[in-house]
Amino acid sequence: MKKRYLITAALPYANGPLHIGHLAGAYLPADIYARYLRLMGRDVVFVCGSDEHGAAITVKARKENTTPRAVVDQYHRMLEDTFEKIGISFDIYHRTSEPIHHETSQDFFRKLFDKQAFIEETTEQYYDETVGQFLADRYITGICPVCANPEAYGDQCEKCGSTLSPTDLKEPKSMLSGAVPVKRSTTHWFLRLDQHESWLREWINTGIVEGEQLHDPAAWKNHVIGQCNSWLDQGLQPRAMTRDLDWGVDVPPEIPGSEGKKLYVWLDAPIGYISATKQWALEHGKDWELYWKNEDTALIHFIGKDNIVFHCLIFPAILKAHGDYILPVNVPANQFLNLEGRKLSTSKNWAVWVHEYCEAFAGQEDVLRYNMIRKMPEQSDSEFTWKGFQETNNNELVNNLANFVNRVLVLTHKYYEGVVPEINPAQSFKSGWNIDKTGQYGDELLSINRKLVEMTVEIERFNFKEAMRTVMEISSAGNALLQFNEPWKTVKDAPETVKIVMNLALQYVAALAVAVRPFLPFSAERLRLMLNLPPWQDLGELSVALERLSNQQPLVQSSHLIGQPEHLFSRISDEVIEKQIEILKANEPVADAVPTNTKIAYKPMKETIQYDDFAKMDIRTGIILSAEKVEKSKKLLKLSVDLGFELRTILSGIAEHFTPEEVVGKQVIVLANLAPRTMMGTESQGMILMAEDASGKLCFVSPASGWPSGMGVQ
Ligand code: MF3
Ligand code: ZN
Repeated sequence: MKKRYLITAALPYANGPLHIGHLAGAYLPADIYARYLRLMGRDVVFVCGSDEHGAAITVKARKENTTPRAVVDQYHRMLEDTFEKIGISFDIYHRTSEPIHHETSQDFFRKLFDKQAFIEETTEQYYDETVGQFLADRYITGICPVCANPEAYGDQCEKCGSTLSPTDLKEPKSMLSGAVPVKRSTTHWFLRLDQHESWLREWINTGIVEGEQLHDPAAWKNHVIGQCNSWLDQGLQPRAMTRDLDWGVDVPPEIPGSEGKKLYVWLDAPIGYISATKQWALEHGKDWELYWKNEDTALIHFIGKDNIVFHCLIFPAILKAHGDYILPVNVPANQFLNLEGRKLSTSKNWAVWVHEYCEAFAGQEDVLRYNMIRKMPEQSDSEFTWKGFQETNNNELVNNLANFVNRVLVLTHKYYEGVVPEINPAQSFKSGWNIDKTGQYGDELLSINRKLVEMTVEIERFNFKEAMRTVMEISSAGNALLQFNEPWKTVKDAPETVKIVMNLALQYVAALAVAVRPFLPFSAERLRLMLNLPPWQDLGELSVALERLSNQQPLVQSSHLIGQPEHLFSRISDEVIEKQIEILKANEPVADAVPTNTKIAYKPMKETIQYDDFAKMDIRTGIILSAEKVEKSKKLLKLSVDLGFELRTILSGIAEHFTPEEVVGKQVIVLANLAPRTMMGTESQGMILMAEDASGKLCFVSPASGWPSGMGVQ
């Protein structure tokens, strides 16, 4: 175990509000993890801040006829406020426009320059003559060469996820003026990523750098490693670390040729984690270097999957080139959260905005947090629906958790005037974990402890969904304890049994109060007040509870007076949900729908078969773990597909439709007993099922998100 932890969450661009996809992707998992570490008494700093440079900001400013400064000031404040409302417990929320960040980034650049990590190169780049500016990254749009999306950016196509460079775009257009750009030569500093390829490959796949084991690769998510390998297999090229812009961090002025040049936003932004830590250390009298330069620190980046290459390849190369810094021990990136069947999109306003949620559902912040955790896209994309939101609230938070807590507190007031009853530990009752078992006070405490330990194990593995489920099992067992023993029926005839049952039920509630703290911090606080416990002593709370329970000691003592019961959660009605769906549907993009008046050329039906013909096929659910292009083949991608019970190599003719990065993590349906076939020297062990439209476009056929691999399809 490391001595200290530095937790980072991706710096959001200060060009728009926060939506639920951001929350589920990076901020909530980071927050749960940081809160958990604090509860275990570990030394942890959790940093974030606004990403205030880059085309995301300047293009927005131009569109709104204002300045970049005005844009970042507005959204920085808004983001900070939203994070606080939804309970993201950053130790500092910084910003990249601060002088300390500019200095830190420039120092970094100088060091890389002095160490000859760059090559200076003059290349032809697109230039907008009407406004007099070079057009890199998001300053240029055009048709995506992969999926034909007409609105692809110079650095990325948001529709298919391909990484692009401006010269890949067909029919390029300036974002600034709409003009057709011309080519002009310009000089920039390129990071020699090619020189970093081999150690990065070893580090990603084995955790070893220069013979030293820095992390356990088995602890990394498959889709993260898969995406990195797809990139590595295509070969890393030198990448420009500077831009011709007037908004951003200046290239240090003493470097010849620096005039008019700014740092590339993906160089300065991750350095923002460092400057945020410096600022935090200044404010708290700490030493920032311990968190960045000491091998006893675990650095963990929480991000969404679109940021994987920057955090797993480019930033590590930058840190390594500098020489003084540690590397992340893990980058537990999440996949994407979709919304009611579509990709979330800021520009299309297809989103649930967190600040709007906080207004419409004030006091119910934890309900959103809970739903996000239950639907967290940990291994594959997942989906938010308002109906699902209502269900997790009504069926799980209300019917299970709130109901249990309420029953226990109300009965304690009714039977014992709110005082935790004294017990005779020898008294027997029915166990909440197993109706056929006679309960034992100490055993029940140990069972709670086991669940809490299970929760810690899942959190440490970044399985937050599973950790949350484990916590809810404590509540289910508590409900069962009441159900099996029916104190309301036996309180007159068997008062001693009821005392032990109620005392235990209160221990369950106390354990839940501690256990939900990383996940549902607002509810944890309300539970604390309902139980009339002293203010949480922030450090070590969970470790103290674990210790006590493992020694079969109660968490709340007999004769302790509890507080007043309150409803922890309440039902959300159909009307409330329908209203939200209406608000959302008002923004429904129409462009994606198939226009009703177009005639589609359907393929003719094939001849009728008998059931037996069909039954011969073994069709399974699976997930693509990694993907790479097949050399010398235009059509084939080589996929590694997990069928649950085994791993298959499958060659699929989809390379003209999808890039390797975008298929990694996809849940698929596989014809698993197709006779193996060797193509281009590789044996293909199955077939991925795809749907094809009239124009020959392909789409994956997928099981419901989160569905396990290896299940039969019939
Ligand atoms: N602003 C970027 C985005 O929203 C993330 C930056 S993460 C950092 O995709 F590492 F660069 F800070
Ligand atoms: Zn595309």
